Amino acid sequence: MWSFLNVEKEPVTVLVTGAAGQIGYAIVPMIARGAMLGADQPVILHMLDIEPAAEALKGVRMELIDAAFPLLKGVVATTDAVEACTGVNIAVMVGGFPRKEGMERKDVMSKNVSIYKAQASALEKHAASDCKVLVVANPANTNALILKEFAPSIPEKNITCLTRLDHNRALGQISERINVYVSDVKNVIIWGNHSSTQYPDVNHATVKTCSGDKPVRELIADDQWLNNEFITTVQQRGAAIIKARKLSSALSAASAACDHVRDWVLGTPKGTWVSMGVYSDGSYGIQPGLIYSFPVNCEKGNWSIVQGLKIDEFSRKKMDATATELMEEKSLAYSCLN
Ligand code: NAD
Ligand code: LMR
Repeated sequence: MWSFLNVEKEPVTVLVTGAAGQIGYAIVPMIARGAMLGADQPVILHMLDIEPAAEALKGVRMELIDAAFPLLKGVVATTDAVEACTGVNIAVMVGGFPRKEGMERKDVMSKNVSIYKAQASALEKHAASDCKVLVVANPANTNALILKEFAPSIPEKNITCLTRLDHNRALGQISERINVYVSDVKNVIIWGNHSSTQYPDVNHATVKTCSGDKPVRELIADDQWLNNEFITTVQQRGAAIIKARKLSSALSAASAACDHVRDWVLGTPKGTWVSMGVYSDGSYGIQPGLIYSFPVNCEKGNWSIVQGLKIDEFSRKKMDATATELMEEKSLAYSCLN
């Protein structure tokens, strides 16, 4: 009743590249159901893939039509990057090649960075001027950096990469260990690269209890576990999933990508931060010129790095080690492009 009085919001156009792939197939229904931009936000989906996947992409389009999502106001399925990027407000860059068992994420570097160089220009020329970009394809930080460098007119604040999956994995490990709801755990941090050098840090993380928020380090008094097994489990979770599924993570990656964009656009709850790969401004001694995962707060569509956190010697070493890997990846990426 009275629905004729509701004024619908203007649709937001969301691009998903690699949309015929596994993450693509998982994420497009999430976006069309409002999991990314909210249950009252109409969307238009632009899906890009390459010619060999064109038929599969058509199938995804058919399924989206068949699902009759009320929020979905249009679907473009194309192999033309210009058509896909035109008028896009949010770009979720998943297109690329996943690693296989036994590989590191940077082993797919030469194939993937050249895709990001090429698509940078299409986005720069044809997307909305305030388009927000999330790079998911690996090596995610370095692909995002290449995209940034080859799309100089896109504001650097608008180019990010996904480390929210690692952040969510860290929350999940803490919740399993002490048998609390995952929604009661907050403020873990993923520092650095979405790779096995990332540093999952619980020094500022808390758990909601009936007597208020308590530090994770107080509830889990086992430093040995927190400083070793917890860290390696999160660092190696992607590889563990590939080993188990013979395919890389997809539903959790899609869900994390929705979390990333939702918090960026709609804001993080007061007192809570999330991890995002963003262009370093030198915070915490991390050199500018890298896309590095930091703890961020988001408000009104903007992220800002959480400042003033105390960093101990153990953390410092790990934060620097992952920055060093990112510098090495950056020069490797440039050597692949030359
Ligand atoms: P997938 O192979 O199932 O799908 C990738 C899709 O990209 C394919 O349909 C392929 O045809 C398409 N593609 C290839 N080149 C393209 C191009 N130039 N333009 C558009 N599309 C192109 O792989 P997936 O499992 O969906 O994973 C996609 C990427 O995401 C991989 O690089 C994977 O390693 C990465 N990933 C990252 C995270 C993260 O947390 N950052 C998590 C999971 C997966
Ligand atoms: C993940 O973390 O699951 C993805 O980056 C896929 C991978 O290669 O590990």
